[in-house]
Amino acid sequence: MEKTKQLYEGKAKKVFATTDENLYIVDYKDDATAFNGLKKGTIAGKGEINNRVTNHLMRMLETKGIPTHYVKELSPRETLVKKVTIVPLEVIVRNIAAGSLAKRLGLPEGTKLNSTVLEFCYKNDELGDPMINDSHILAMGFATEAEIALIREYALKINDILSEYLRDLGIELIDFKLEFGKTADGTIVLADEISPDTCRFWDTKTGEKLDKDRFRRDLGGVEDAYHEILRRLLGE
Ligand code: TMP
Repeated sequence: MEKTKQLYEGKAKKVFATTDENLYIVDYKDDATAFNGLKKGTIAGKGEINNRVTNHLMRMLETKGIPTHYVKELSPRETLVKKVTIVPLEVIVRNIAAGSLAKRLGLPEGTKLNSTVLEFCYKNDELGDPMINDSHILAMGFATEAEIALIREYALKINDILSEYLRDLGIELIDFKLEFGKTADGTIVLADEISPDTCRFWDTKTGEKLDKDRFRRDLGGVEDAYHEILRRLLGE
């Protein structure tokens, strides 16, 4: 499969059209941003790690009945995916209070939640990805009622599968962000990435942060944390 033309360059990935009109190639970069692009940097090796971790987790989720855009890993940084139209939502699932939820509700980070929290944000950098609810999604025509129900069902199932899988590797899944896409025939599939950029991973024993918060908050050891996640998931 050959790249033809670049369709899009995001903060962490580029997307290319291919010689097959139903397939795209995603190319992961080492560029890192935080706070809606305000903080910029590079995390050496991040592109490869996020590509390989995402593909590993998407293959695992497929075996458990979650449809994804994943087709084939082409190189350490590049993956062949189904062509989808991204539903303009960031779907956030939270098991433990951290980040913006901890701030919004005045909770210390690490506070246990009585039940899982699911949030929708409108994926729009200019507006700072504002949080919205089902009625905004319907009013804006981002998704139908049935699609919202399916996205919610998938997101919660993914949370159950990933939380259990990661706990066995000594990683607590605190929260994460998902994006979904729609294929040409209208099927909703998991898209984008699942990586230390888009999840909070805390070491189960020590509570050490093994994710992008190390970059966001200048905690040091950023590359080591990404490598540790690769090592625990893929054994290297
Ligand atoms: P938050 O606590 O900052 O709202 O982040 C919740 C989760 O979503 C966290 O695991 C990081 C992830 N996330 C993204 O993937 N992209 C983003 O732009 C933001 C703000 C968070």
